[in-house]
Amino acid sequence: MSTWVSHFGLASSPFSKEIDDEHLWLPSSKHALVDQLSDALSERASVLLTGEPGVGKTCVLRALRHRLPQAGFRLTYCHNATLGRRDFYRQLCLALGLAPSATAAAVFYAVSSHIEELGRERVHPVFLLDESHLLHQDTLDHLHILLNYEWDRRALLSLILVGLPELEDRLTMRRNRSLFSRIHWRLHLDPLVPDDTGEYLRTRLAGVGCEREIFSSDAVAMLHEATVGAMRDLDRLATAALRETARKKKKLVERDVVARVIDRDSRED
Ligand SMILES: Nc1ncnc2c1ncn2[C@@H]1O[C@H](COP(=O)(O)OP(=O)(O)OP(=O)(O)O)[C@@H](O)[C@H]1O
Ligand SMILES: [Mg+2]
Repeated sequence: MSTWVSHFGLASSPFSKEIDDEHLWLPSSKHALVDQLSDALSERASVLLTGEPGVGKTCVLRALRHRLPQAGFRLTYCHNATLGRRDFYRQLCLALGLAPSATAAAVFYAVSSHIEELGRERVHPVFLLDESHLLHQDTLDHLHILLNYEWDRRALLSLILVGLPELEDRLTMRRNRSLFSRIHWRLHLDPLVPDDTGEYLRTRLAGVGCEREIFSSDAVAMLHEATVGAMRDLDRLATAALRETARKKKKLVERDVVARVIDRDSRED
């Protein structure tokens, strides 16, 4: 265990990305988003979820996975969005437990038959495509075909496309309108507001056994301003501030330490 972790009497590093699905922080704003995603899947609809880097999109997907009843849904998570169409379908096959075939057509056939089979078993398949802003255009060109069963009468599959805000700009392009018009839920994850930042820090510290205030209110305000509500940046800066405070043998993270950490971090960029 690191010396700074024991200095503050913590069970482990508080801002690690290794957090169990059931311990994810879900303030009311995120709760509402998980509810909407869950409603969309109950309607067998497809979803676009956008947000700036590090605001917690992938963690929202994990909260959704935790929430959905296991029986009715088969979630397939795919984050390797930079693949070309053929490799993309091969990866989909592997994720679905199917043997990848040699040609794009055979792969497409295998995937679509499998999806139809799940439909007969009343299991709704959900493809979560993370980092979708990186999808190749030729993969995007094909995605709407996956939503297009039985003469476009049934939705046997839900797509959840997750990515940076530019994903929505891409989808609104004329070329992608067949896909975009089939995505009825268009959700956006906002960055944290100042009160959220304080609550997030407290919740994650409580998760490693610390119930007292470790960050002064000035320090929290500075961290919020520096990170503009992106949790990954907050994790990094808050950890650096804890480390520095422990080095000075203090128990409260004050604004001078945070200012130094932010300054150092911005010079490293
Ligand atoms: N609900 C949450 N509960 C606890 N920690 C969270 C939560 N959401 C985000 N985090 C923290 O913030 C970090 C970044 O979140 P996440 O990876 O979900 O962001 P993202 O929006 O998917 O970013 P990117 O666009 O870069 O993929 C996580 O590693 C985790 O430490
Ligand atoms: Mg992510």
